[in-house]
Amino acid sequence: MNIFQAIEQRRAVKHYQPNLNMTDEDFKTLMNSVLLSPTSYNIQHWRFVRVTERAQREKLKALAWGQAQVSDASELFVLCADVNAWNDRPERYVANSPKETQDMLLPMMHNFYNQKEQLQRDEAMRSCGMAAQTMMLAAKGLGYDSCPMVGFDHDKVAELIQLPKNHVIAMMMAIGYAEKEAYPRSGQLPLSDVLVENQF
Ligand SMILES: Cc1cc2nc3c(=O)[nH]c(=O)nc-3n(C[C@H](O)[C@H](O)[C@H](O)COP(=O)(O)O)c2cc1C
Repeated sequence: MNIFQAIEQRRAVKHYQPNLNMTDEDFKTLMNSVLLSPTSYNIQHWRFVRVTERAQREKLKALAWGQAQVSDASELFVLCADVNAWNDRPERYVANSPKETQDMLLPMMHNFYNQKEQLQRDEAMRSCGMAAQTMMLAAKGLGYDSCPMVGFDHDKVAELIQLPKNHVIAMMMAIGYAEKEAYPRSGQLPLSDVLVENQF
């Protein structure tokens, strides 16, 4: 499957064949692809909670208003982010760069995010958006379908997964084998409604 086929064929699939596992090899390929997603200053805010226990899946399903994909998909992730990642051992993000680059980037990054709480959170969410899209396209390339989700009680899910301080939940992601196709596309806006040239 080429990249354009994956983009075209990725749909939010709501019904999955239950009790089918993703192979370990596919899981590794999927996650190794996700880890290559771009982030500002290479901060990689994402933290993935892979929910493997049946009981935990059922609790999450109840907190997601019974959405079947939460329990039935082969994989279910709660895609979280560390909002403070910009300030947590940032030398990790440039570990393989030349020393001059590190010396330039690290203070620049600090000044960019320091005391800007809204920006710190925005950036964490942006990173998760990048990871989520990679995850869905990589899953499609491996022969799986996916469904991103925000339809759940965020506070209660945070409690259930013991979300650490300074972390946020961006979304859940179900990945598995489709049982039913996605509904027909519900109404894509024409390019003319969303593209402007040079300014609004
Ligand atoms: C951030 C985000 C949250 C979503 N939350 C849900 C959800 O809770 N439940 C659901 O069934 N679909 C959810 N969707 C799927 C969207 O409804 C779907 O992506 C959109 O209608 C476009 O359809 P398509 O992905 O099949 O092209 C979500 C999608 C995104 C990107």
